[in-house]
Amino acid sequence: MRNSVWLWITNCCESENCGSAEAVLFLIFGIMKTPVYLDYNATTPVDKRVLEAMLPYFTNKFGNASSRTHAFGWVAEDAVKIAREQVAQLINCTSQEIVFTSGATEAINLAIKGVWENYQFKGKHIITVKTEHKAVLDTCKALEKRGAEVTYLSVNREGLIDIEDLKSALKSRTILVAVMYVNNETGVIQPIRQIADIVHTNNSIFMCDATQAIGKINCDVEKEHIDLLCISAHKFYGPKGVGALYIRRKSPRVTLVAQMDGGGHERGLRSGTLNVPGIVGLGEACGIAQREMYDDAKRILNLRTRLEQSLCDFLDVFINGNIQNRLFNVSNLTFKGIRSETLINKLPTIAVAMGSACTSAIAEPSHVLKAMGVSDEDSYSTIRFSLGKYTTEDEIDEVIERVSNVVNGLRCK
Ligand SMILES: Cc1ncc(COP(=O)(O)O)c(C=O)c1O
Repeated sequence: MRNSVWLWITNCCESENCGSAEAVLFLIFGIMKTPVYLDYNATTPVDKRVLEAMLPYFTNKFGNASSRTHAFGWVAEDAVKIAREQVAQLINCTSQEIVFTSGATEAINLAIKGVWENYQFKGKHIITVKTEHKAVLDTCKALEKRGAEVTYLSVNREGLIDIEDLKSALKSRTILVAVMYVNNETGVIQPIRQIADIVHTNNSIFMCDATQAIGKINCDVEKEHIDLLCISAHKFYGPKGVGALYIRRKSPRVTLVAQMDGGGHERGLRSGTLNVPGIVGLGEACGIAQREMYDDAKRILNLRTRLEQSLCDFLDVFINGNIQNRLFNVSNLTFKGIRSETLINKLPTIAVAMGSACTSAIAEPSHVLKAMGVSDEDSYSTIRFSLGKYTTEDEIDEVIERVSNVVNGLRCK
């Protein structure tokens, strides 16, 4: 029932006569309102400018970017070249250092497994962090079955790693250290440059899953000394199913073993016909982010502050994650004594996440909050609000009002 109502609402809002559809809806469901989307860390809508840039590459400019013998192929190849430049500019690298993938999960797999297969002559030790995304943790676990020795660093109550722990975990046989830029559940930002420099003193490779950082804050691979960086388009208003891996070419030059065999696309690192419309979309999303992300960030931060101040001041709510080093769009809140499932069920038209969106089908306490020392009970009372560039002040006010009413109602029982 809940799913079909949602579908109907979103379809109505897409249609031309959205206003009248909403009015009918309001009459039928009484208290139901337009849905508010606060799950931007799970995925974002495609920016209309991104969509417009992509559309010709589905129809009249449909060529295969590898077709060298005719103009259809050349047009597609040119578009990929421009997109590669746009991605490179956003993270301050050269376009030869970008490999297009199907998203961050694939980029992470290529980076970690690619290093593992290429550098085993140096050692079999990998370091990562307990709060990483499953794409990193499960890839490391898969390598453990193949003989890798993996150290999972702990974090403190605020979600930050201890630099001394990293120093003492490094061994002469450590080939790779993987630390995410921004945590997808809490928004906590790790001190990337400091971590990278320590990793390099040990001559190890530093990989950074920047899926939640790219397009939101400045991620400069030169400034931050990152060797491998993972990107996903759908987290910053690009299409789903496309991403990229940055692979440093000098100081140090990083080489990987490809994980996909085939036609040798992407300089042999990722075989498979290029997803030209998706790549064009990723490029355009990067271009837009480069121009607009700082203004978006200011506006979104104000909205998040408004949300947190209202909810935390009046309800028994606490924020998870380091307050100073936290991305501006995420608010991971524990509503003491209230099951998040109950809260979410009572707010059917507000889209939020209980744990990590990618694993929210599994009813287990979040591994991120667990690593931070949050009790299972509090973890089950936690909701992640993630705001985006289309979030409005009205929506935030509405969320504050609706959440407050439901929480107060539940607490009075
Ligand atoms: C931090 C982080 N890494 C990796 C991923 C996986 O990204 P993709 O959906 O592009 O495979 C996600 C998706 O939620 C994420 O938040």
